[in-house]
Amino acid sequence: MQNVIGIDAGGTLTKVVYINENNDLEYKIFPSNDFSKVKDWIEANPFIEEIGLTGGRTQQLLEVLNTMKSIQYLVEFEATIKGVQYLLEKDGHAIERSIITNIGTGTSIHYMEGKNHFRVGGTGVGGGTLTGLSTIMTGISNFNEITTRASQGNRDSIDLFVKDIFQGMEPPIEGHLTASNFGKVNITKKKEHEENDLLATVQALVGEVITTLSIQFAEEKKTEAIVYIGSTLQNNDHLKKVIGNYTKLKKHNPIFLPNCGFTGAIGALLNKVESK
Ligand SMILES: Nc1ncnc2c1ncn2[C@@H]1O[C@H](COP(=O)(O)OP(=O)(O)OP(=O)(O)O)[C@@H](O)[C@H]1O
Ligand SMILES: [Mg+2]
Repeated sequence: MQNVIGIDAGGTLTKVVYINENNDLEYKIFPSNDFSKVKDWIEANPFIEEIGLTGGRTQQLLEVLNTMKSIQYLVEFEATIKGVQYLLEKDGHAIERSIITNIGTGTSIHYMEGKNHFRVGGTGVGGGTLTGLSTIMTGISNFNEITTRASQGNRDSIDLFVKDIFQGMEPPIEGHLTASNFGKVNITKKKEHEENDLLATVQALVGEVITTLSIQFAEEKKTEAIVYIGSTLQNNDHLKKVIGNYTKLKKHNPIFLPNCGFTGAIGALLNKVESK
């Protein structure tokens, strides 16, 4: 066990990464609304002497930790890209230029070219939107339940597709594309919907908004690859399918990385190790 850990204190989740006896990364998550759990865990693990730290809730976490350990802070975007570059290499991708779309609580979109990167935009539609809308519409707030049930749902009675409008005609764009997310509800006046169907439709709304925006930036930057990261994609094959299929349809190359929720924490860890 190395004596250093990386922490990304995000809007919703605090991600922790450390290096185990076999030189592999180990991953842990804590809710960001109770930093005392992070403090307890650190205190229960005396091997930890140094901390690389990033994320928008860094200051709030520091106030709770109140520790004498050696801490190195790295701004979130730097940490994220550092972590992405690490995971890309580990997973065997040789990508020089790419859009990087981080689907956290909200969504932040970056352009990376070699060692350089900058933020190109973002949207408030993200993982918080997925869990927030899901909770309001179905009462289901547990992330894993949302994603599991979404994968069993069907959007057909809720979303309006291009082919639904252009009935009996040749549509100007592909018929299976969404014309209006949730757009069928007020046309059919069907008020009762299965929870799984609602969850599938929310995932599609979130995934399609994020993909549409990412593709526009990819076209502007003339880059084919879009790396999608963030905890919203963890254990969420349904959302990956929505995003992956739409990205491919638009002739771009979607890349999903294992442990993609931990890029910030990995970057903070590497930065701390390098600063020694
Ligand atoms: N165990 C979990 N509990 C709650 N949400 C989860 C969990 N696993 C995945 N998620 C999803 O991941 C999202 C948070 O993603 P991520 O951890 O990348 O964001 P963050 O770093 O907390 O936020 P930001 O970067 O916007 O400050 C949640 O909104 C939710 O959709
Ligand atoms: Mg984050």
